[in-house]
Amino acid sequence: MFGRRTGEGAIEAQPKPAAKKAAEPKSEKTKSTPPPKTGAPPKKQAAPKLETIAVADRSDDYYRTKSAVFNALIDTIDLSQLAQLDTEAAGDEIRDIINEIISIKNVQMSIAEQENLIQDIVNDVLGYGPLEPLLARDDIADIMVNGANRVFIEVSGKIQLTNVRFRDNAQLMNICQRIVSQVGRRVDEASPICDARLPDGSRVNVIAPPLAIDGPALTIRKFKKDKLTMGNLVDFGSISPEGARVLEIIGACRINTLISGGTGSGKTTLLNCMTGFIELDERVITCEDAAELQLQQPHVVRLETRPPNLEGQGEVTMRDLVKNCLRMRPERIIVGEVRGPEAFDLLQAMNTGHDGSMGTLHANSPREALQRIESMITMGGYNLPSKTIREMIVGSIDIIVQAARLRDGSRRITHITEVLGTEGETIITQDLFVYDMSGEDAAGKIIGRHKSTGIARPAFWDRARYYGRDQDLAEALDAAQG
Ligand SMILES: Nc1ncnc2c1ncn2[C@@H]1O[C@H](COP(=O)(O)OP(=O)(O)OP(=O)(O)O)[C@@H](O)[C@H]1O
Ligand SMILES: [Mg+2]
Repeated sequence: MFGRRTGEGAIEAQPKPAAKKAAEPKSEKTKSTPPPKTGAPPKKQAAPKLETIAVADRSDDYYRTKSAVFNALIDTIDLSQLAQLDTEAAGDEIRDIINEIISIKNVQMSIAEQENLIQDIVNDVLGYGPLEPLLARDDIADIMVNGANRVFIEVSGKIQLTNVRFRDNAQLMNICQRIVSQVGRRVDEASPICDARLPDGSRVNVIAPPLAIDGPALTIRKFKKDKLTMGNLVDFGSISPEGARVLEIIGACRINTLISGGTGSGKTTLLNCMTGFIELDERVITCEDAAELQLQQPHVVRLETRPPNLEGQGEVTMRDLVKNCLRMRPERIIVGEVRGPEAFDLLQAMNTGHDGSMGTLHANSPREALQRIESMITMGGYNLPSKTIREMIVGSIDIIVQAARLRDGSRRITHITEVLGTEGETIITQDLFVYDMSGEDAAGKIIGRHKSTGIARPAFWDRARYYGRDQDLAEALDAAQG
């Protein structure tokens, strides 16, 4: 033990001025001289191990070769000249040089390995490096990079650690930079937080050191080209066929709807499904932070907020968009996510003839969703008594659909709830549909079923009748009972 301590000291054998000792209480050396009294934890505690899943089948040998070839390439290539070529030509140039390096160095590898090597290096130089194989997979919902050595993905609702690695934090930062520069932004110590979007529509957030302590943290919500449909949700058991029919009627009969749920619970997906029931001739305006919705109707105007530029100017908020929407003669307004004072404007829109408007918000139950809306309005600086705010909420929102990601990773619609009115100062709601959990099977999958709560005539019955869907609604509710 003593031997090791002396050894450690020897590595950094620098003269220690006595006065500095007190000024640097955190220095390793000062700590090591007197034996620690408070029992400071040993430096390396066995961290709990997470199972790693292999994403790309690359061996350690492969990485060594790649590193050598990569370094040789950087020595050979003229990066400023490369920057003047378009991506395809630059890729070809890199290919040619790598092939040359491989033959000069007499590297032994199969044709398939060589192809992988070339592709990986081209990705490193021109693309998103180690992220590429993850971005190419459509089954991945989220990619979460916590510094160079920890890359997690979410597949089928489960978060898994992968064997994907960046060379170091500098490479990761470089790739973050490459991503955000495409939307004209920069991420560095001066502006360490940045939202961006990949060309394929995926949503990206970067938070860099010094705010992220262990290296840049990059989060990507993959854009699903083939959005899930209501039919898919039924197949997955996220909602029963009858529940889906009720949602369809809600969407078609222009009922003001809020979709509530936690992070990644499937709110946007559900909103996208619900917009599928909007008539083709309706004028719809969507407002989003990052355009994710894919409406199929011909008469849609898509709007997107804009963050401030590097000088802190030019920001366009969700509230600005929703307010502007009202001057665009919309029939329905769809707000991707309500998270601030725009709640007030959306409610006003719902209240003033834009029936069938929809939005999502972050809350864990329908009741919490109502409270959140109220606090968003209060925090927006509107000096209204809470009774007035609640009456406004009741007058605008008809239905809250609650989405949840359960502990087995599955996503379920857990409530379809009507907002009925106020009693005194309390908002009265009634559940039409609930997901009733009964336990879990041997594999840990949650078992349960969706059922109607026995309400035969929901408050929007007259509206359903007006749109000729009352029989349909009665049948769906009837079939879901029992
Ligand atoms: N019912 C479902 N079954 C399986 N996967 C789903 C379901 N709903 C959504 N997903 C998938 O889950 C991921 C997250 O969905 P989505 O973006 O709709 O969530 P969100 O609640 O809007 O998330 P955020 O809070 O980040 O905005 C997507 O990849 C989506 O395809
Ligand atoms: Mg969302």
